Amino acid sequence: MSELTQSAAWQRLQQQQQRMQAFSLADAFAADHGRADQYALSAAGIYLDFSKNHIDPTVLDALLELASHCGVKHGIERLYNGDIVNPSEERPALHWLLRAQAGDTAGELDKLLPEIGEIKQHLDDVSQQVITGRLRGYTGKPFTDVVNIGIGGSDLGPAMAYQALRNEQLAGIRCHFVANMCAHDLLETLQDLDPHTTLFIVASKSFTTLETLQNANTAKQWLLDSLQDENAVASHFFAVSSKPELARRWGIREEFVFPFRDWVGGRYSVWSAIGLPLCIGLGYPAFEQFLAGARAMDRHFFSSDFSVNMPVLLALIGIWYSNFWHCDQHAIIPYDNRLRRFPAYLQQLMMESNGKSCTINGQRTDYTTCPAIWGEPGSNAQHSFFQLLHQGSPMIPVDFIAVCDGGHPHHEHQQWLLSNCLAQSRTLMLGQQLAGTDPLAAHKFMPGNRPSNTLLLQQLTPATLGALIALYEHKTYVQSLIWNINAFDQWGVELGKTISRQIKSVMEGTGDSRTMDSSTMALLARIRGTN
Ligand code: F6P
Repeated sequence: MSELTQSAAWQRLQQQQQRMQAFSLADAFAADHGRADQYALSAAGIYLDFSKNHIDPTVLDALLELASHCGVKHGIERLYNGDIVNPSEERPALHWLLRAQAGDTAGELDKLLPEIGEIKQHLDDVSQQVITGRLRGYTGKPFTDVVNIGIGGSDLGPAMAYQALRNEQLAGIRCHFVANMCAHDLLETLQDLDPHTTLFIVASKSFTTLETLQNANTAKQWLLDSLQDENAVASHFFAVSSKPELARRWGIREEFVFPFRDWVGGRYSVWSAIGLPLCIGLGYPAFEQFLAGARAMDRHFFSSDFSVNMPVLLALIGIWYSNFWHCDQHAIIPYDNRLRRFPAYLQQLMMESNGKSCTINGQRTDYTTCPAIWGEPGSNAQHSFFQLLHQGSPMIPVDFIAVCDGGHPHHEHQQWLLSNCLAQSRTLMLGQQLAGTDPLAAHKFMPGNRPSNTLLLQQLTPATLGALIALYEHKTYVQSLIWNINAFDQWGVELGKTISRQIKSVMEGTGDSRTMDSSTMALLARIRGTN
């Protein structure tokens, strides 16, 4: 057994879980009218109601004891001080510094702020030039469309945030996001675009990612097919990368290469120059507000006592269900269509960060780590998988995310939407038991007592979205500290990349097929039509 699972704090939580098996959420609310106030807090424009969880003061105390046992306070200080929190790649994790201001930081980190400020100034200048039409395409026409070519962290953050904010903030230039190696992604995007007025951003931290380079090369060819001049490439391609020299070698003009440092992880990079499509699509001031909202959450996280610290409490409640109630799934349901890409964004953030079973010191964990994160927007999801949430065998904790003011004039839509959101968390909690005289009583039985958090934003703005993302970033980090894993590396995705190269060479007839298994060879034969 590991030190963690042997610890008194862990074992106390196991005992608490035994005790809480008799706990009823409905009874807890009936017995205590102050429960909703007791288990709620506000930070950075976000209201969190965590009262519909299997918690009471003793459980919370035991969870806080676990945080203390695992050195969460020290771990947060290490993040804040810029220590190496990613030892397998020997890097600090300074994504939060991108939204910091002078005086927010400790020690030497202040010295990085001028460099960060210069890149922001460049983003501001160039995005202004594109929006106002001072910067134009090769044939002198102003840009109307931007296509961001990137994948993973070089796609999900800006794509999700653009989707969320575009109704409110549109600066006039339409943004599109192409990620998939499947050519349909690029082709569908390009079919409506004019090469004369299209600007591409090749976004890749490493500038070696196969999908991104393949799409970028095809996009380049599309441009050249129409403009018929190699020189056009320099006017229509920007790059964002922590390997600027590779971007320049690919053919991107020096002043259109936007760098960021390797201490910004891909899935934490929306705050860096990876946010360039947001600067162009929403306007630079909106990007600054986005950073400011995240900064407000950072200040709350770095300074609040754990008993009222939103990311820490969300993390501990997640640990409670993953490790002590053995819930291996967690659903994220935004009740706002603008946030429909948010579950996908969180999938990378949380599962690429904490989907590991090796501790930071290289030991196998003997406890589970990150649950599977998934979700879709409500109310659509009610008509697809909510059946399972209500009556399926697993207990799946849910985060409901709702926006009070929908930002549109259709009041009745919004009232129905929010009523549905609240109805779902209440129904999950209450369940249903009909009288035995009802012939369908067994089929209609709903166990209830199923937990959820509800997060409310007053409005969906760049600032509240920034705070929401930062909340989940910090939650993810705190969980990694409890599980004693490195949240900032991703070795598990590398092997698949290597094997895909081997298979491609076999597919092309140059690789050694004897290294392949019979299933892969049979599938290859079918694909090639030789079987
Ligand atoms: O394959 C996983 C990954 O490395 C992610 O961590 C990253 O966000 C994505 O690929 C894209 O990488 P890059 O920005 O270097 O192209």
